[in-house]
Amino acid sequence: MITKAIMNDKLLNDLKDAIKKNRKYVGYNIYSVKDGMIAKGNNVESRALNEYIIGRQLFRNNISVPEMYRFISPYLLDPKAEDPLLKEWYILMQEIKGVGLLNVGGEDRKIANKQYVSELEKISQLGIVAEDVVHNVLFDEKQKKIYFTDFEFWKKGTPEEIEKTYAWLKKYRK
Ligand SMILES: Nc1ncnc2c1ncn2[C@@H]1O[C@H](COP(=O)(O)OP(=O)(O)O)[C@@H](O)[C@H]1O
Ligand SMILES: [Mg+2]
Repeated sequence: MITKAIMNDKLLNDLKDAIKKNRKYVGYNIYSVKDGMIAKGNNVESRALNEYIIGRQLFRNNISVPEMYRFISPYLLDPKAEDPLLKEWYILMQEIKGVGLLNVGGEDRKIANKQYVSELEKISQLGIVAEDVVHNVLFDEKQKKIYFTDFEFWKKGTPEEIEKTYAWLKKYRK
């Protein structure tokens, strides 16, 4: 029964296909699964799981992040696989059509920066500490909206860490 369900799992097959056909999106571990959906691979299970759980928590709390659709373990992909790429943990998530924040200029950059500060404030209020954020923000020029990505190393912060972030953000608040 379980095997049959897995065999008929369309998304799982789309993912396998993307990996096997090397449909790279950007970087070395992101694949284009279908329109509007990417898969990010990670060879460390705990990091992939952290990204998925934090990402879902952020999305549920209306922080501007891609929607995390599914977490896929290698056992589901192919338990007997030899190919190391089929032995990774994958997150299926919403594809954000945007450019890196650091490449945004002019009026758009002002809009993006403002959102950046207010979103980080909301993130702190959830008790979460963001890591390496500035390199992992995309700006959707059509929607004029920023999106945070890459939560592999984000974590629940200690009160001291949250305080530190608040103090830092205060400087940017108008
Ligand atoms: N959901 C997404 N939609 C579109 N592009 C993305 C998405 N997630 C990541 N990217 C792009 O892929 C790049 C690498 O992804 P990231 O999650 O930062 O991986 P890494 O852990 O390798 O840094 C990012 O800089 C970003 O441009
Ligand atoms: Mg990154």
